[in-house]
Amino acid sequence: MAVGQLPTDPDLPGRKRDHLRIALTGDVGFATLTTGLERHRVRARALPERDLADVDLSLALWGRRLAAPLLISCMTGGTSEAGPVNRALATAAQAHGVALGLGSGRVLLEAAPARRAELAAAAGFAVRDIAPDVLLLANLGAVQLHTHGPAACADLVAACGADALVLHLNAVQEAVQPRGDTGFAGLLERIAATCAALDAPVVVKEVGFGLAPEDVAALAAAGVAGIDVAGAGGTNWARIEGARDDRAGRVAAAFADWGWPTAQAVTAARAVLDRHAAARRVVLVASGGLRDGVDALKALCLGADLAGVARGLLAAGAAGPDAAVEAVGVLVDQLRIGAWAAGAGAVTELTPDRLENLA
Ligand SMILES: Cc1cc2nc3c(=O)[nH]c(=O)nc-3n(C[C@H](O)[C@H](O)[C@H](O)COP(=O)(O)O)c2cc1C
Repeated sequence: MAVGQLPTDPDLPGRKRDHLRIALTGDVGFATLTTGLERHRVRARALPERDLADVDLSLALWGRRLAAPLLISCMTGGTSEAGPVNRALATAAQAHGVALGLGSGRVLLEAAPARRAELAAAAGFAVRDIAPDVLLLANLGAVQLHTHGPAACADLVAACGADALVLHLNAVQEAVQPRGDTGFAGLLERIAATCAALDAPVVVKEVGFGLAPEDVAALAAAGVAGIDVAGAGGTNWARIEGARDDRAGRVAAAFADWGWPTAQAVTAARAVLDRHAAARRVVLVASGGLRDGVDALKALCLGADLAGVARGLLAAGAAGPDAAVEAVGVLVDQLRIGAWAAGAGAVTELTPDRLENLA
């Protein structure tokens, strides 16, 4: 199947290919801004008073059981190169019982319905055969809701065999790139309509610049089932787009330190969700620049229900299933050991009092 023969945006597969290459090889971090997680230290306990084997970080979420509150965040799809990466990450997710997000499925929605199954396999979205038990998230740019309504979103979830739909907000990324989609007026209403119409839970995330507290409040009121702050301090999407085009690079330069640091975004989002009784059911995901299981532990103690890692797992995914299984295994071990050595035995015990604020 020629993934390049796509109707509305013929450049899409090439752009996805560039994103993978640049994210793997380029300097795509922030200039000086950090996640802020380094300003929190886990209160290490020398006497955990529990065996490591008795630490159980499992949780039930959206009809699936996770062995640990970890998410391999949405990355790729839409090119033939994405297939092996997603399948390696799916193998790792299945092996370790963590959740997996797929990259944007726009390419599927722009294909004729009859060709979607074939395209899903060719472009890296079909992983259910190797990840039957994984909490699997389909993905679409929220700005695409102007073109693709709730029925198309339901089709995307079905085509991926996913359990939930993630909509990403990427205003700066779209604006920096040549011919990006910047029609963000009316998106909140479209997100609300999608939440109301879809049987599957809808999660909204940023892509690495974070969500403001007022965005979190608005999204919770719109009926989302989950929010991923995808904060700043990790992958910088202005810089990735800037590496593809000279003019975009000059514009992107001003955004090298843009956004809400992950620790600040998670803390603020938790406070917003806790303030409104109806919003307490919203699942909070912390991602953006998480490097290891101790970063994940800190984010969970700050109030997240799940911790997500994207680019930190990309090289392992690109290296194949064995490397991906190993990398995710290390991440899970780091989180379990950290939780244990902080005195926690379950996800409900990952609380703010396990951290010292060094700021
Ligand atoms: C190669 C690559 C592709 C990505 N593609 C998507 C995407 O299609 N949809 C999405 O919501 N986020 C996408 N992201 C953003 C990540 O999900 C994440 O929010 C962001 O990279 C910040 O996390 P990190 O610092 O751990 O990389 C992508 C990230 C990378 C590195």
